[in-house]
Amino acid sequence: MQKGEQLYEGKAKKVFLTDDPDALIVSYKDDATAFNGQKKGTITGKGVINNRMSNYLFQIIEREGVPTHYVQEISDRETVVRKVEIVPLEVIIRNVAAGSFSKRLGISEGTELAEPTIEFSYKNDELEDPLINSYFAKALKLATQDELETIKKYAFMVNEILKVEFLKAGLRLIDFKIEFGRFHGKIILADEISPDTCRLWDAKTGDKLDKDRFRRDLGNVEEAYIEVAKRLGIKVEEEKE
Ligand code: TMP
Repeated sequence: MQKGEQLYEGKAKKVFLTDDPDALIVSYKDDATAFNGQKKGTITGKGVINNRMSNYLFQIIEREGVPTHYVQEISDRETVVRKVEIVPLEVIIRNVAAGSFSKRLGISEGTELAEPTIEFSYKNDELEDPLINSYFAKALKLATQDELETIKKYAFMVNEILKVEFLKAGLRLIDFKIEFGRFHGKIILADEISPDTCRLWDAKTGDKLDKDRFRRDLGNVEEAYIEVAKRLGIKVEEEKE
């Protein structure tokens, strides 16, 4: 596989074309942002951990019946993925109240929800990813009814798979954000699943082991990412050239 020109640079990843029109290479950076890019920083080693962790989880998810963009990890920070057209929705699943949910609804962080919830945000940086619902998504032609049904089904399946995997590692999955794409007309899971995109609390102590440590200046940010990776059995060292 030949790496071609850079297609796009996002907040946490770069994306490159390849000689295969159906494939891209993503390259994970150590850059971290929060609050729609207003807060900027670096989490040393994050790119390596997020690459490996996302690939590890995507392979489990694929085996459990949800199609994903994962093709092959080619280095510490780089992975070949299927080239999709991203559905411009951030799909958020919550098991426990936290973050914007707690703030919006006045429910204290850590309150267990009677059942998992799903919400959609319109991926639009200028508008700061506003919360919408499935009627908005259809009316704005972001996705069709059929696509939304598939996205909802897959998102809840991903939640069940991840809850089990994380609990085996002594981690409580509080909530997470995923994105989907269209690949030859079919909806598949895209983007990443990592401590950048999940809230993960230690199952025993309740310690936060995710990007909230960066967002909220809690300290030990790198250590939290390393801890999550180690618990999942993922190598954290960067390969030396
Ligand atoms: P929220 O409580 O701030 O809405 O976040 C819900 C989940 O989504 C949390 O696990 C963090 C993740 N998330 C992202 O991955 N990207 C984002 O831009 C935001 C706002 C949240």
